[in-house]
Amino acid sequence: MRLLLAPMEGVVDWVLRDTMTSLGGIDQCVTEFVRVTTTLHPKIIFHRYCPELHTGSKTRAGTPVFVQLLGGQPEPMAANAARAAEMGAAGIDINFGCPAKLVNRHDGGAVLLKSPNRVFEITRAVRAVVPPHIPVTAKIRLGFDDPSMCLENAMAAQEAGAHWLTVHCRTKVDGYKPPAYWEWIPKMREKVSLSLIANGEVWTVQDYWRCREVSGSQDVMIGRGAIARPFLFNEIQRSHGSQIEAFQEEKKWPEIKPLLPQFFLASKDFKSPWFAQARTKQWLRQLSLQHPEAKPLFDEIKVIHNPPQFESTLQRLTLKN
Ligand SMILES: Cc1cc2nc3c(=O)[nH]c(=O)nc-3n(C[C@H](O)[C@H](O)[C@H](O)COP(=O)(O)O)c2cc1C
Repeated sequence: MRLLLAPMEGVVDWVLRDTMTSLGGIDQCVTEFVRVTTTLHPKIIFHRYCPELHTGSKTRAGTPVFVQLLGGQPEPMAANAARAAEMGAAGIDINFGCPAKLVNRHDGGAVLLKSPNRVFEITRAVRAVVPPHIPVTAKIRLGFDDPSMCLENAMAAQEAGAHWLTVHCRTKVDGYKPPAYWEWIPKMREKVSLSLIANGEVWTVQDYWRCREVSGSQDVMIGRGAIARPFLFNEIQRSHGSQIEAFQEEKKWPEIKPLLPQFFLASKDFKSPWFAQARTKQWLRQLSLQHPEAKPLFDEIKVIHNPPQFESTLQRLTLKN
């Protein structure tokens, strides 16, 4: 059984991966997507997306990080994958799920799911140049507009040598609207034998167990639910030993609160005070979805636009009882 932190562009960067994996319970991370067009990126780009390449492709807590690539052309995808592998990437993940119009118009992400042959060609080209001991994985949605395309796309990924396949159980057209259709995964399993990682709409420990039951997958990837509830992975690990009906999720706000000033300082060191301010507001807004205690704090700091004032207010509000 594996628990994976989902890649999220503009959210799950080095700082958030470091913060989240330090809390425990996460087996695997994936970077935000690195967009590949026709050129070979310089090494600095890979280090920017995946600073963990300096530390054995692992977070400081020791969790492996795969580098995710997004693009529609097999040759440049392969060349960039080979470079990331040379630089020590623990694995290469290929993004076939991005719904962004701009990305889709430029022949990347979920639009490729319309043509399983292209999923095959891209995955095969990447697999061919990445040393065999480094996994090449893929991440798909169920389809662009037709969920049944997941069957052919899963076969394409398997035939091309993908090590595992993460399935965000919605089409591109579904966007992020609940529910996630985990029930497609057992249908995919009738067609392929590679590991299928279930993804989409897991917000609580109970969701996790329902997802496992419906999808039949022991491996689950979680994105927004984990940002809103940072101890979710931890709680899931603990729930393995208990009766799920009786399992009580703990109110963790007093433990989460002190993470915020640490997160701000780490983001400031990583990029800039302005960046840190924006990211901390973003995280606090997500946290307030699951923790009512976060809301007054968010309301007070969201109107502050000056980073030093933001920092001192955050310190004051999070360190008091
Ligand atoms: C803001 C945002 C950014 C995302 N960026 C990526 C990305 O870079 N690569 C990717 O494969 N998926 C990306 N996703 C999709 C997530 O990895 C995940 O599949 C999706 O959020 C469903 O899982 P969840 O319901 O647990 O959040 C993104 C999702 C969101 C909301």
